[in-house]
Amino acid sequence: MADTAGRLRLGVNIDHVATVRNARGSAYPDPVRAAILAEEAGADGITAHLREDRRHISDRDIERLMEALTLPLNFEMAATDEMQRIALRHRPHAVCIVPERREERTTEGGLEVAREENRLAHFIAPLRDAGCRVSIFIAADRRQIEAAHRIGAAVVELHTGGYCDAHAEGHMAERDAELARLTDMAAFAHSLGLEVHAGHGLTYDTVQPIAALPQVMELNIGHFLIGEAIFRGLVPAIAEMRRLMDGART
Ligand code: PXP
Repeated sequence: MADTAGRLRLGVNIDHVATVRNARGSAYPDPVRAAILAEEAGADGITAHLREDRRHISDRDIERLMEALTLPLNFEMAATDEMQRIALRHRPHAVCIVPERREERTTEGGLEVAREENRLAHFIAPLRDAGCRVSIFIAADRRQIEAAHRIGAAVVELHTGGYCDAHAEGHMAERDAELARLTDMAAFAHSLGLEVHAGHGLTYDTVQPIAALPQVMELNIGHFLIGEAIFRGLVPAIAEMRRLMDGART
């Protein structure tokens, strides 16, 4: 593998390959095949979200990813007992705790850590003890970052959805305000010793200002890449994202 030490990492989220598969109840397209191709295209990790309702990734997908992947798996999950048991069985490289509501189309907001500090501290302790890097998906909000730090998370992933939505809707003042907030909060989280990741809704048009934030070490990107793969193919779609990320960093 190329020497990639120190570069901004790209985690490719393959959930929506499984969404397409499940739309027909078929065996294809296979998210594990997508994960293997993502590595070829320059991904540094694979992200998969096992939802409570199994709407895309299945338990079997997680088993197969653990067997087949040479890249680290970032296992996204809600803070439930069932998911904790599954994570402890597989011991993925990283576990990203996300909020989950059945009726939502995607992970709409960040986790409310500050209000659930005690429960979450107990919840993540066995995951940490099992050797998983625990990441908490939160809004770029000082209170949430401080709480994530207090409960002993290694990583915070900052939610970029608001920034991306504002851009897509042409609300440029709001987009710039969101970007300023992400910029400040990435620096704040880093100052506490947290590793900073970011993701949600990123596209070719929105990735570079986030990739340019010096404290951000990893971006997790899925929906746009899987959509773009329809037109360019998965490997070129990911390779272009990789190119834009690297360009923003130099
Ligand atoms: N990071 C987290 C924590 C997520 O929940 C998601 C969506 O599953 C992503 C990143 C990727 O978002 P998108 O699919 O919009 O690129």
